[in-house]
Amino acid sequence: GAWAVVLAGGVGSRFWPLSTPTRPKQLLPLVDGEPLLANTLARLAPLVPAARTLVLTNASLVAPIRALAPELPAENVIAEPAPAGTAAALAWAARTVARRGGDDAVMLCVHADWAIGDPDGFRAALRDAARAAAAHRSLVTVGIVPTRDDPGFGYIQPDAEIEPGVHRVARFVEKPTRERAARMRAEGYLWNSGIFVWRAGDFLEELDARCPEVAPALRAVSDAADDASAIGTFFADVTPVAVDVGVMERSPRVLVLPGDFGWDDVGTWGALGRVRALDGAENATSGAVHLLDAHRNVVHADGNAVVLYGVDDLVVVVGRGLTLVTTVDRSSDLKTLLDSLPREL
Ligand code: GDD
Ligand code: MG
Repeated sequence: GAWAVVLAGGVGSRFWPLSTPTRPKQLLPLVDGEPLLANTLARLAPLVPAARTLVLTNASLVAPIRALAPELPAENVIAEPAPAGTAAALAWAARTVARRGGDDAVMLCVHADWAIGDPDGFRAALRDAARAAAAHRSLVTVGIVPTRDDPGFGYIQPDAEIEPGVHRVARFVEKPTRERAARMRAEGYLWNSGIFVWRAGDFLEELDARCPEVAPALRAVSDAADDASAIGTFFADVTPVAVDVGVMERSPRVLVLPGDFGWDDVGTWGALGRVRALDGAENATSGAVHLLDAHRNVVHADGNAVVLYGVDDLVVVVGRGLTLVTTVDRSSDLKTLLDSLPREL
């Protein structure tokens, strides 16, 4: 059977004031009251049992993740000793899957921080991708039909259709300008969802052939080494690189399946207006929130109640003893704000 591999590292400062290094966005209840990682695991559960579900994360998040997902065997929550990028994380996951399930075992790789409007469609796409990966011995991505010109994603240009719904890949373009994003959307590019599906053995082969940042460190870890001793050596030796750049862009064995199941990467407070259930005036709220004559606001009240009267398009977040008030537009550039804040906040 297939394995699920959930990438849950990365810090994510875009959900300040709620997110902190020990409680980054994947552990926050941003969409429906459950942490995003819990949403992710629940979405995968009908497809893959907990025994074959791996979560890769920073050492500091292992304890909260085990507490949030007690159904996972402890050894399935894997701590990376140092942040090393997604190519290394997936290389380690592939080694783990190959050792426990064999080279033929298919890995369904996902991120911990997505919102998915149609979970059945998502699971159907993963099944199709698994079939294509095994049949064509390829690295399969699911490309999302874009719904806006978003410069925050990677884009994939599909090439020839080799069977219904399965395309070769012409190119990957990571995080374009808004103008280029608009052009690519018009030309039929897809969003790179980060859903990657492959046989463990095929990914390890492509990594070995094309990823000098990571492959030597994996080769240096002997097959006999037990996981606990090998993981430290491996992560100390790799050069950080994203899997998109380190393997996918360089490999000729890549296929893309277009998909449409309400996928989104929850990247900003303002984005919650797209993925949360909305009230009649299109406000996305959670916690004790009272609104009158207020429209399209995102309000997250973690603690004190929040009351909005006669205002539109605001983001109001109360949590950790802090209150943030900004606009939906400005919330996509929290970094500028954070750079200017005093350290103690
Ligand atoms: N375990 C682990 N280790 N996870 C990591 C690491 C790491 O070193 N670095 C990042 N992650 C996790 C993040 O928590 C996130 O879930 C996922 O891997 C992707 O990393 P991001 O840093 O969020 O990437 P991105 O969103 O900017 O871009 C990627 O994803 C987009 C879709 O969500 C790219 O693949 C884009 O092309 C793509 O559109
Ligand atoms: Mg992301």
